[in-house]
Amino acid sequence: MTAVTIPGLEHAPTNHARLLAWVQEVAELTCPDEVVWADGSQGEWDRLTKKLVDAGTFVPLKKKPNSFWAASDPTDVARVEERTYICSVREEDSGPTNNWMDPSKMKAIMTELYRGCMRGRTMYVIPFCMGPLDAEKPMLGVEITDSEYVVVSMHIMTRMGTKALALFGEDADYVPALHSLGAPLEHGQQDVQWPCNETKYISHFPETREIWSFGSGYGGNALLGKKCYSLRIASVMARDEGWLAEHMLILKLTSPENKAYYIAAAFPSACGKTNLAMLEPTIPGWKVETLGDDIAWMRFGADGRLYAVNPENGFFGVAPGTDYHTNPNAMRTIAKGNSLFTNVALTDDGDIWWEGMGEPPAHLTSWKHQDWTPDSEELSSHPNSRYCTPIEQCDIKAPEWDDPNGVPISAIFFGGRRATTIPLVTESRDWQHGTYMGATLSSETTAAAVGKTGVVRRDPMAMLPFIGYNAGDYFQHWVDLGKRADADKLPKIFYVNWFRRGEDKRFLWPGFGENSRVLKWAIERIEGKAAAQETPIGYVPTAEDLDLEGLDASREDVEAALAFDADEWRAEIPLVEEWFAKIGEKVPTTLRDELAALKQRLG
Ligand code: GTP
Ligand code: MN
Ligand code: MN
Repeated sequence: MTAVTIPGLEHAPTNHARLLAWVQEVAELTCPDEVVWADGSQGEWDRLTKKLVDAGTFVPLKKKPNSFWAASDPTDVARVEERTYICSVREEDSGPTNNWMDPSKMKAIMTELYRGCMRGRTMYVIPFCMGPLDAEKPMLGVEITDSEYVVVSMHIMTRMGTKALALFGEDADYVPALHSLGAPLEHGQQDVQWPCNETKYISHFPETREIWSFGSGYGGNALLGKKCYSLRIASVMARDEGWLAEHMLILKLTSPENKAYYIAAAFPSACGKTNLAMLEPTIPGWKVETLGDDIAWMRFGADGRLYAVNPENGFFGVAPGTDYHTNPNAMRTIAKGNSLFTNVALTDDGDIWWEGMGEPPAHLTSWKHQDWTPDSEELSSHPNSRYCTPIEQCDIKAPEWDDPNGVPISAIFFGGRRATTIPLVTESRDWQHGTYMGATLSSETTAAAVGKTGVVRRDPMAMLPFIGYNAGDYFQHWVDLGKRADADKLPKIFYVNWFRRGEDKRFLWPGFGENSRVLKWAIERIEGKAAAQETPIGYVPTAEDLDLEGLDASREDVEAALAFDADEWRAEIPLVEEWFAKIGEKVPTTLRDELAALKQRLG
């Protein structure tokens, strides 16, 4: 058999033998027209964005420098949880919350899908590093993709190209991540604006630490450094090595006394992480700076404290609802340009618009490429439309945001979107109780994943779609880590809910910048300076305990947002029991004890 010659294959900029062999193997399987090693340069960005403009995938924005509008295929708009698999060798290691398939069976199916799937396209090899390049052990990966959209998105979201490849040496470990749109082009065939395939698989092989993705070009399905690597695969690494890979923002809060605290917070997709990460406090003297808006890797430092690093390099934020009132820092970041906007609306003068961004213009091009006016019945922007923008240009990024040692976390917030039951804020009694809060976290589903929205489901630690192994083992890992460290060095865990509603369905708490009042209370609890009431579910502040000066909300609403209602909580118990039954025998005894104790306290 003669070796296949594909242009670009012979000029690899590395001597890493395993990487070279893998690239060769994938190229022979997928049959691209050429192979290109992504270098992360400005020239590459210019070339690929131009190619995307010529293909009709991108429209350059006249009003934002170096920025582009894209609209995806209407069937390819969010993560596809139904098509996401954890292919561990043993089914029980994937667990009841994940889809599972035997790894060799999955590889056999996907190999056939990949066969010839890049015909007529370019295969890009993207070396990348999640987290700082100067980390003691840089977390490397290589994404192979046939999507230019993915390459330019990876320019923003990761440290990639030549500077990442420099860390590979000849045999560094890396996570191979294979991605294809699954849309080969016959000779002379006209491409579509958003190529993808009806058949989709987002597969993870935790034992061999590989990612195989097919059929989708969007977000978490296609930018494999993000959810696939930094959460699903990294959570398995973290289990094995004694750390945590979590769906958490990281923020720095500085008090009027100039004392800095770092807070991590886990809320399910589209439940407020990006907003909280960039919050503008409404209380005087307090300052928030951003380190990350979606993912935190947390390791114990030599001093016994938990240190967090953001593995990402950009924000991939939910667009609708973002404006100068809710998230001015995100607006200022995207205003600087160098950003991608997917599935928002395009204005006639070459800017972007979405629901929640002030008065709508008289005419727009909707994300479905249709004429849109304020009278239109459909939304101009998909609810899961996103902006993609570099952290570097965020005015309030904390200077230490890319410190390889990370930042010591004082508090962890868990939160969800619940119209009832869950008070605005509750402080856990200790780590184990906080782990129980996280493990039983619930939230109404959102548009960030395909499926029905507004349905309450358990979303443990906001990680339901991202735990790369058995959820029961994951809970045990949290419990075990808490035992490893000194209790007084562990972050304090709080449970928040910005989304409680009154009888008239209105949000009881104004949220956004006003959430700084809750952050302040949490820090004052850590400092032993604020009061709270002990309730069966933990410590809950009264309206007196919160700083409400200048808050534009009625006392009744605040009290209703803070209320602990024993009947509502009693109604929650069977749901938690059902949830634990689903996880089965792997639910840690500690958490069963927490549930039993809660039940008893509720009477
Ligand atoms: P992913 O990026 O998908 O993981 O989600 P996220 O957690 O970053 O969500 P994001 O911050 O983008 O919030 C999405 C939605 O929550 C938007 O519709 C916001 O308007 C809304 N939201 C955020 N914070 C608040 C708040 O404090 N109160 C209320 N009522 N809504 C909020
Ligand atoms: Mn997320
Ligand atoms: Mn976000």
